Amino acid sequence: MIAPATGALIHKLKGLAPRVAMVLGSGLGSLVDAVDDAIRIPYADLPGFPHSGVSGHAGEVVAGYLSGKPVLMLAGRAHYYEMGDAAVMRPVMAALADLGIEMLVLTNAAGSVRHDLAPGSVMLIDDHINYSGLNPLIGEASDQRFVGMTAAYDKKLKDAFVIAAGEVGEKLPMGVYMWFSGPSFETPAEIRMARTLGADAVGMSTVPEVILARFFGLRVAACSVITNYGAGMTGAELSHEETKDVAPKGGARLQKIIRALVREIG
Ligand code: HPA
Repeated sequence: MIAPATGALIHKLKGLAPRVAMVLGSGLGSLVDAVDDAIRIPYADLPGFPHSGVSGHAGEVVAGYLSGKPVLMLAGRAHYYEMGDAAVMRPVMAALADLGIEMLVLTNAAGSVRHDLAPGSVMLIDDHINYSGLNPLIGEASDQRFVGMTAAYDKKLKDAFVIAAGEVGEKLPMGVYMWFSGPSFETPAEIRMARTLGADAVGMSTVPEVILARFFGLRVAACSVITNYGAGMTGAELSHEETKDVAPKGGARLQKIIRALVREIG
């Protein structure tokens, strides 16, 4: 079945055929400014695309060239916590697969669970823990719903990310991302639990998109920009203001890495 937005996207892309797509998380939208010959398509013009209400999320597709390679960026995502729909990004992922996108790079803002992973760092997601208990494939009737997640984060893409970071002289620690539903932040006890269970970062997105992308056969890589230490690790209260404020700082670092990555894989 063809996704509802596919026709509109093909029409607007005018022959541009990127193999790489990216989802830009909270405060990370400025990467679209680096796109040459940009075609901008508001989500509102794409049937099935979400109308994200989160400040710091623009809600548009920006397609063009990055490092000379064709790319498609999704500036803004919808989250489970907005409407209680874990599959809210399904029409987006379906359309990407229809377009022939092969590789998806997801980015997010996240809290650190590790004292040695400071705000402003970029962490390559090695694996995740779906602590929410939710799944975007609940209700999917086909046997394709039994998606293998053993290698959800593509080994070759991870290697390419590490090489790209090395090329631009940036550190890129790897870690495990744990999905909490949000929108309230975690408690200090939950952060201690996350650490005990093997998480390095916590956040409110990305995991359902990874599951959907794997369902649709895309290869996936993901990075977190660390915007704060997890609840209780410092004396400070957490806030979305802080996320939006700090994300662009780590985002500049991520932008350098992604440009080098696209040069490799695009
Ligand atoms: N917890 C969950 N999500 C987040 C955080 C956090 O500490 N920081 C940015 N997104």
